[in-house]
Amino acid sequence: MRVSTLIAAAAGCAQAFVLPQTFLDAFQLSSGVDEQSFFWPHKPYFLKHEVDPESFPDDIELAELNSTAWDLYQIAGTSNRTYGHPTRVIGSEGHWNTLNYILRQFDEMRDYYEISTQSFKALNGKVYHYDLNYTNGAKVPTAQAFSLSPPAAPFVGKLVEIPNLGCTDADFEALTITEDSIALIERGECPFGKKSSLAGKHGFKAVVIYDNDPTSEKGVSGTLEKPTNHTVSTVGVSFAVGQELILGITLDPHFSLFYYMDSYVNEIETKNIIADTKHGDPENIVALGAHTDSVAAGPGINDDGSGTISLLAVAKHLSNYKINNKVRFAFWAAEEEGLVGSNYYAEHLTPEENLKMRLFMDYDMMASPNYQYQIYDANNIDNPRGSEELRDLYIDYYTEHGLNYTLIPFDGRSDYVGFIEHGIPGGGIAAGAEGKNTDNGKVLDRCYHELCDDVNNLNWEAFLTNTQLIAYSVARYADSLKGFPEREINATVTASSADIQYKYPYKGGANLLL
Ligand SMILES: *[C@@H]1O[C@H](CO)[C@@H](O)[C@H](O)[C@H]1NC(C)=O
Ligand SMILES: *[C@@H]1O[C@H](CO)[C@@H](O)[C@H](O)[C@H]1NC(C)=O
Ligand SMILES: *[C@@H]1O[C@H](CO)[C@@H](O)[C@H](O)[C@H]1NC(C)=O
Ligand SMILES: *[C@@H]1O[C@H](CO)[C@@H](O)[C@H](O)[C@H]1NC(C)=O
Ligand SMILES: *[C@@H]1O[C@H](CO)[C@@H](O)[C@H](O)[C@H]1NC(C)=O
Ligand SMILES: *[C@@H]1O[C@H](CO)[C@@H](O)[C@H](O)[C@H]1NC(C)=O
Repeated sequence: MRVSTLIAAAAGCAQAFVLPQTFLDAFQLSSGVDEQSFFWPHKPYFLKHEVDPESFPDDIELAELNSTAWDLYQIAGTSNRTYGHPTRVIGSEGHWNTLNYILRQFDEMRDYYEISTQSFKALNGKVYHYDLNYTNGAKVPTAQAFSLSPPAAPFVGKLVEIPNLGCTDADFEALTITEDSIALIERGECPFGKKSSLAGKHGFKAVVIYDNDPTSEKGVSGTLEKPTNHTVSTVGVSFAVGQELILGITLDPHFSLFYYMDSYVNEIETKNIIADTKHGDPENIVALGAHTDSVAAGPGINDDGSGTISLLAVAKHLSNYKINNKVRFAFWAAEEEGLVGSNYYAEHLTPEENLKMRLFMDYDMMASPNYQYQIYDANNIDNPRGSEELRDLYIDYYTEHGLNYTLIPFDGRSDYVGFIEHGIPGGGIAAGAEGKNTDNGKVLDRCYHELCDDVNNLNWEAFLTNTQLIAYSVARYADSLKGFPEREINATVTASSADIQYKYPYKGGANLLL
């Protein structure tokens, strides 16, 4: 199927598919790249069949999802030299090579897609090393560095328990700090970054945040987000360790810890990739997206390699068909840093561009190992009109295929936020993150945000089913938006982004982003 006689006839075109040398340099994977995949038969558009939503999902094959997953894992490995392990975090070789890989796939389909990239700035940081020790040299158990934590030169500091939750100046004002000190603060009420910044403002050199969940054995972790001038180096520990430290202070008013962190926080430039079909009604755009970046801890093959892979497969097969509405495939960067790429995109749409987008479908984490078929419980009361129709499309699909699904909160943990905040109907599906599977009580993705989120972390049944559902959603709306609500022209479309009251609790609260 891949190598057709059309190629032989069009041998003169082969030159056009040769990769630029700069790309080959950046993409250090020549051995893993199948030369034949650079060629794809291109039927003239007018000879293509109209896409049929019922049969189109059958075009998706497990083998192609598998082969792209292995490509992404190899690409994540290009970060080994600088990160010590595979990752596709923004700014890493693994992320840049992911973007190049996507661009290369679309380069093969440039008769069908118009490609653009959008640069924007995002924070990127790296913790090389940290120590939180008792003064006898023993390591404080469960300690984990927060991402985007600034560094701290080695010091021994007196540990001071902060009253309340360390979310207001008042919580710190009563304390007198006369020597190097470390603030001990309970998790809760306000973002981690706020606790860290307030502690720094009141003279603390570092912060230890302990979890408020007694059942969690791991140290609390997350991101400090955008640093202020006061943000100080911060680590998290478990609830139990927090209690031990409090006991230490109670028994010894001079109770101290050794603290050290080697890290940096940088603002870097990264990119979204947007691929629009050249055909289809440009006034009625069907948009869908996945994020190209992982967290620093691992290769992110489920999160969100899976969504990226699904979109690439659907885009490739769609190019064999005629469509009525324009389709926009979006590949967001810096989702893990706070939905930065998708928010930037949505905020920078002109009102005219905004109104052409009929809906946005979010595909983040499609193949969790202990999956459930999760559907965002979007509705037309709290969300732009049309969100509910999209939710019902997913419900009907799973139901017709005899599959159980669960509705999950549409509460701001992924890249749909920017769209619904700007009046564009949205929704999506997922296979599960750190939550528990309601059927068996076990965690949905045991490798969520960890090093083991590799190819072995994918559940193939969920991956195939969800990619076929993505194919269905695209074909269905690309074919016709009949019955799908028209866009409402209302305040949120035209308001400048500064005027928008973000109502989603997790926006920027990146600890809980998928
Ligand atoms: C995926 O591909 C690898 C390598 O070609 C193969 O070993 C594995 O069995 C495949 N997995 C599935 C689910 O097809
Ligand atoms: C990167 O390191 C991992 C082990 O952490 C290894 O499996 C992988 O093959 C390495 N990849 C490359 C491209 O060096
Ligand atoms: C802190 O603990 C780590 C881990 O046990 C150890 O390697 C390091 O030497 C300790 N540092 C100090 C200054 O005690
Ligand atoms: C932070 O520090 C920089 C440089 O010292 C200064 O220009 C800036 O105004 C400060 N920002 C705030 C919010 O205080
Ligand atoms: C704009 O749309 C939202 C979401 O559909 C709706 O809640 C709101 O009432 C609309 N505003 C106006 C001014 O029509
Ligand atoms: C769907 O859920 C029901 C009730 O939880 C269960 O009995 C059934 O086996 C499930 N079906 C599938 C296909 O998982």
